[in-house]
Amino acid sequence: MSTTTINGRPETLPDDPDAMLVDVIREQIGLTGTKLVCGSGVCGACTVLLDGAPVVSCLLPAKAAAGKSLTTVEGIAGEKLHPVQKAFIAHDALQCGFCTPGFVVEATAFHDRWRAAKGTTTPSREEIASALSGHLCRCGAYEGIFRAVAEACAGRFDGNDPTAPRLEARDKVTGLARYTVDIRHDGQLEGVILRSPAAHAKIRDLDLTPARAIAGVGAAVSLLADDGMVRFVGAPIAAVAARDRRTALAAIAAITFSRQDLPAVIGLDAARREDAPVVFEKKDRKRAGNVSEGGGGPASWKGNLRGPSAAFSKRAKRARSWLAEAREARNALLVEETFRVSTQQHACLEPHAAVARFEGDELTVHVSTQAVHEVGEKLAKRYGLAHEKVQVIADHVGGGFGSKAALGTETIAAIELAREAGAPVRVAFDREEELSVTGYRPAAELKVSLLPSAEGKLKALSLTAHADTGAAVNSTIAALARLIYPAEAKELVDFDVLSNLPPGAPFRGPGGPPMAFAIEQAVDEAALRMNVDPLTLRKRWDVDPNRQRLYDWAAGLDTWRNRKGAASQSGRYRRGVGVATGYWLYFWQPGSSVELAVRGGRLVASSAVQDIGTGTRSVIANIIAREFSLEPGDVDVRIGRSHLPKGPASGGSRVTSSIVPPTLLAIEKLKAEIARTAARPPMPGSNAPWRELIAASPDLTVSAQRPKDNKPLPGITSPLRQAGIMGMIFGWMLKTFSHLVVGAGVPSSVQVMEVEVDTWLGHVRVLNAHTGLAVGKVAAPALARSQAAGAVIQGIGYALYEARETDPSTGHVLSANMEDYRIPGIADMPRLDVHFDEAGFEHVPGGSVGIGEVSTVPTSPALANAIRDAIGVRPTEIPIRPDRIVAALKGRAAA
Ligand code: FES
Ligand code: FES
Repeated sequence: MSTTTINGRPETLPDDPDAMLVDVIREQIGLTGTKLVCGSGVCGACTVLLDGAPVVSCLLPAKAAAGKSLTTVEGIAGEKLHPVQKAFIAHDALQCGFCTPGFVVEATAFHDRWRAAKGTTTPSREEIASALSGHLCRCGAYEGIFRAVAEACAGRFDGNDPTAPRLEARDKVTGLARYTVDIRHDGQLEGVILRSPAAHAKIRDLDLTPARAIAGVGAAVSLLADDGMVRFVGAPIAAVAARDRRTALAAIAAITFSRQDLPAVIGLDAARREDAPVVFEKKDRKRAGNVSEGGGGPASWKGNLRGPSAAFSKRAKRARSWLAEAREARNALLVEETFRVSTQQHACLEPHAAVARFEGDELTVHVSTQAVHEVGEKLAKRYGLAHEKVQVIADHVGGGFGSKAALGTETIAAIELAREAGAPVRVAFDREEELSVTGYRPAAELKVSLLPSAEGKLKALSLTAHADTGAAVNSTIAALARLIYPAEAKELVDFDVLSNLPPGAPFRGPGGPPMAFAIEQAVDEAALRMNVDPLTLRKRWDVDPNRQRLYDWAAGLDTWRNRKGAASQSGRYRRGVGVATGYWLYFWQPGSSVELAVRGGRLVASSAVQDIGTGTRSVIANIIAREFSLEPGDVDVRIGRSHLPKGPASGGSRVTSSIVPPTLLAIEKLKAEIARTAARPPMPGSNAPWRELIAASPDLTVSAQRPKDNKPLPGITSPLRQAGIMGMIFGWMLKTFSHLVVGAGVPSSVQVMEVEVDTWLGHVRVLNAHTGLAVGKVAAPALARSQAAGAVIQGIGYALYEARETDPSTGHVLSANMEDYRIPGIADMPRLDVHFDEAGFEHVPGGSVGIGEVSTVPTSPALANAIRDAIGVRPTEIPIRPDRIVAALKGRAAA
């Protein structure tokens, strides 16, 4: 028996030579601040200090800690927070916070070394990037991390605790924030899912008895649909719960079944062939997944091709004939290109996870979800339970980005297993599951034709998108081009191409980035051919008032004004500047409610909304504090519980626009009630009258629902109205089936990117990123800036690095680990500034709409346009890998 010291306390280490340090710290000792993400030394989330030196605990056998002193994130603070923790809080160097403990531990070690050697000099950006290069943050909070580490090293946080722009920041920098994967009840079992090794098969004779016979197994359940079909590698077959993961894995291996393999087809090109095996027969089509935020309209199917969906076209025939004429006449202004975009994984650092527990007929489920209220409703319906008998809890969620909005297999499996075992069960996906079966932004092929008129107007536009949706439908890419750049005629056609791959899922601005990658490059190319400044052309063609102001802002940037262009450059390294535009819809969720109360002299706000790193708690607290002249810390915000008054899901950038208006209404009501019932008025001349009134108020409760918007200013209308009858029908469907209203005004983003391209090796370095955003009033500025920056860095990943690779013969995902699926690290973060234009949404109570989606839409085309500007060759495929750049420069296709 060996021992170690953890945060100053002696602990016994297990004799098991295979026990990993991270598991001992988390599961045996219960210090869940240390996170397990990649399990392979890539992400740094599990970093701890071993005798003062940072190590990744997922690669270290527990016995390596024998006789040594370990410090986890919980032990970093002594009596007071460490300067690095204070700096992280002050600079909001975090969003979901799941990566934060690893960053804090590593940055603390760096800080202490730096201060010992260099006093309070400030480390450079490069020195910080190098020190933290072993850490990944999927939310992209890197800009705040740079600032926090630099200022902590410079001694600016040696004093008192700072003000926190984010309410829960202290819990996240100290490792106290508890995520679903951290929940541990007495007697809890560990659930594991048996998944299909075949891309297409019928499963028969599933026998769970051998699994149940293994000692330590508490339950085994089938997860097969009634037809026994599996349509992708990784489709769930069964699940087992056991006393520990190792036993559960052994039980999974003991399950027997027979399999009738069926012909399978993998990927966009193969699935489009006439003779391709069909993934969903007509009777099974409703089993397909959904890659959009809302439900899709009806569409025809032919084999694996669902479409054409072309309802958002306008004079499609005319567009076709004008484009054909221009082609025939070899019109030099006609821009035609085929672009390809790759599959992007959400890659949330906290995996999909659920912990289910029954107490009598009451079900409590912790779920890593973007929709506590909806998941609660769905579970009540599925299990025939009264709403109040189901409680869904998500106190902290380690990222979602669209992939955690639905009721997932992890939740169903945990509940079914808990019911059979009569014990709490946790199901948490491992990294391979997370990077293969939890959804993705589909790859797509995009054919664009754009024709300016001789007078310089936009005459015709055509976009046809084939999306590689796997076992899912409802991609909406081309249709989104209806709501930008009005043309005399547009033909916009979407196809889903289904194949035996896991289903895609909504991902931050579904359809937006691929649409923009094609359209924004086509507009850029048109500007080149017309010899017009690309910003001037956008200003001419794009009439949206929000974007008109953003174009003026972009035109004034030094980066834009000082660009050189490819023609004036030679040598190995060339710089380029590109611009692109993006928009997203302004969604809000009707029925979203907030309860506001006085409890024992404090204000308490409650709503069944969740915080997936977007800062919902802080947005609510900031508004209430502002209206009552208090500090945000004076307000208790209760969210993340399905029993609270109905709140919006986190998706489609709807939370701020859904939650701020009822909060304001509730404030108004509560003020009236407090003024009416307070035991005494404030002191004459008081400078904190509301604080005094609240202290003198009895306990009170008011609630309010999201009101309708006010009448918008002239010129601001719903974009769907502009899209004619089909837009109106689409709006009605969204409201009826997806509980989403599309409001007037268009959240918009214009981005200017500067890159440096190594023309020998093909590397692209993003030097500067300028993001202009028209998203109304900014409710929590530091958090909004961080959201925008995070969306941009995800867009940079999409453009330059991220690609999910699949074996075209078997359907296995080959990139289901964080070495092979490369997301941007801190050294990939350019210098970034965010400009907020706060006009345009005065009709929205509170004036705020969402930020998260619109900020990622134009990033990939802005980078592509910058690369074109640098090297004179247009990238047509993302990720824009070095080999593709080199091949393009040599005038040939990459391998
Ligand atoms: S979990 Fe250990 S490095 Fe990623
Ligand atoms: S804050 Fe870094 S992963 Fe979310």
